[in-house]
Amino acid sequence: MRRALIPLANSENGTVQGAVATWWNRKSLPTKHQVATAIAKCDLLATDDAPTPGPPRLLDIDGETFRAGFNRSPFLVRHHLAGHPLFSLQRLIELANRLPEEKIKYNGADISVATGLYEGPRTGLSVRDTIQQIEECRSWMVINNVELDPEYRQLLDRCLDEVRLFSEPIDPGMFRMEGFIFISSPGSVTPFHMDPEYNFLLQIRGKKQINIWNSGDRSVLSEITLERYFSDVDRQIVFKEEYQQKAAIFELTPGAGLHFPTVAPHWVRNGDEVSVSFSITFRTPASERRRVVYCANADLRGKGLNPRPPGASTFRDLAKYYGFRARSGIKRALGGHSPCGSGKLGGRRG
Ligand SMILES: [Fe+2]
Repeated sequence: MRRALIPLANSENGTVQGAVATWWNRKSLPTKHQVATAIAKCDLLATDDAPTPGPPRLLDIDGETFRAGFNRSPFLVRHHLAGHPLFSLQRLIELANRLPEEKIKYNGADISVATGLYEGPRTGLSVRDTIQQIEECRSWMVINNVELDPEYRQLLDRCLDEVRLFSEPIDPGMFRMEGFIFISSPGSVTPFHMDPEYNFLLQIRGKKQINIWNSGDRSVLSEITLERYFSDVDRQIVFKEEYQQKAAIFELTPGAGLHFPTVAPHWVRNGDEVSVSFSITFRTPASERRRVVYCANADLRGKGLNPRPPGASTFRDLAKYYGFRARSGIKRALGGHSPCGSGKLGGRRG
């Protein structure tokens, strides 16, 4: 099979393969096997042979919009998952029953935008009853890490393989692919928060209004807030009414999806029907490096310094990244606690 190379501007030889090689030569994450997988997938996606019959496409992504907006500003995509059988309430009950109990989070949905994460009232209902009665029980639920189930894993992989075609030339090395399904009652609110991953929120059923802010707006999201968030000191971000006038507002209906840049603050209000949404997320070595630099900056600020934000100096970022990782490794080896060590920040999504 003849394969076509995808031309690239910022690659050592103008190809995806060159970009991945450049990235690998910098000794960044992840493993050689993952690099090989990324190259193989890009090659397969870039073939210029006549298309072979395969599963139908799940996402419609405009390449120009993606290149202009990825991890810079939210943008809309289209998808073909509305009505997919894996998102029926019965199948979601079965999924919730198969997954470990700690993967299911739910609470009452009558809360304000400024409510803290997971501070909504308990409903007293079981998971099964919550899903069965979602129309009237005034609840919000997330099924975390649906990729633990083979059927949902396959669907997540298919979706992210399509995203990868666009993301790899810009930000190579997609890893830690995770999926989340949100099931919520009419009118429910997901309060003001942010998430650490690249995210595409695909609306399956019902409507949602997404209020979202630019993650680079330091009048809404300060460097100190980001440092505390990534170093797991304080994952709560404070909502102020004055922020609302700066929000971009997107209405999602079945078949629509929205790209969320990492740590773009947002809050969500459901329409007047039951809502089901599928969140497909991933990280890259570049997003991991930003996270670690923020952890290093939190450490430096704690010592009375005023560190420069990530992106201001590549040299300083690299020194912080490798220095902090080395110190964290030593701390862990000595049995101590290493903040920022796992990168397992979650967050309430939706
Ligand atoms: Fe979220």
